[in-house]
Amino acid sequence: MYKRALYAQLAQYYDKIYWSKDYNQEVGFLAKLFQRNEVTGRQLLEVGCGTGNHTKLFVARGYRVTALDLSEDVLRIAERKVRRGATFVQGDMRDLDSAVEGKFDAVVCLFSTISYNLTRSDLKKTIRGLYEHVKDDGIVAFDTHFTKRGFLDGYRGEDIFDDGKVIVARLSTSKRVGDVGEISFTYLIKDGRKVITLRNDVHRLGLFVPEVFLQVMHEVGFKSTEAYSDWTFRRGSNTAAFKDTVFVGRRRA
Ligand SMILES: C[S@@+](CC[C@H](N)C(=O)[O-])C[C@H]1O[C@@H](n2cnc3c(N)ncnc32)[C@H](O)[C@@H]1O
Repeated sequence: MYKRALYAQLAQYYDKIYWSKDYNQEVGFLAKLFQRNEVTGRQLLEVGCGTGNHTKLFVARGYRVTALDLSEDVLRIAERKVRRGATFVQGDMRDLDSAVEGKFDAVVCLFSTISYNLTRSDLKKTIRGLYEHVKDDGIVAFDTHFTKRGFLDGYRGEDIFDDGKVIVARLSTSKRVGDVGEISFTYLIKDGRKVITLRNDVHRLGLFVPEVFLQVMHEVGFKSTEAYSDWTFRRGSNTAAFKDTVFVGRRRA
């Protein structure tokens, strides 16, 4: 299986690369969403937990989290970060049943993890798994900033992170190949005396229009669905580049 360097040999730098991501805002939004939908139970399934940044904040709010990821490398970091209140499991979001048992009060899949489904059929397998692991009155939420209309073909960008100890420089380029968005990252990292160069870590992302996510949610059984724009309760999908759409489903209307 192809291993994306960001979640394998560069996993220890993941939190530095995404230092500016506002995990607090996202968890705050989701907690409010659960409250508004009268989800009072605290058993949460998190799919694609990465290095455990949402996990840690959910646990701090009193949730008991089962957190799954495909990559052993990010899971090791998450386990060190969240010592209590979470169970970490390795597994593939397209085959949740092999890794996770039972039903949860809420199920989340965050930071565009859902977009690693390249085909409608894989997307459906994943969304069906999310549906099957939520209780009848529970909530499923997933977000993405990669949509068919919003993906920036030909984007070129650079980011730099420097905390005085580690410097991470990252170049990104993107191109659209049919219904797949390809983002290629090149890294130059100076960590103390160590220098790491990593070229062309390619991430392939499925590009769907927002209506497809909603259609698939209905096909697997969700009775009510909603799309919210960019971690606010403003309804509607946000297809502007770098903005997120949060898709929400309930098993019962
Ligand atoms: C952009 S990261 C998001 C991580 C975390 N949710 C966050 O917000 O920092 C995407 C995560 O999805 C995981 N992932 C990719 N494909 C997956 C799959 N098929 N099943 C489970 N996890 C997957 C990656 O290993 C990575 O940790």
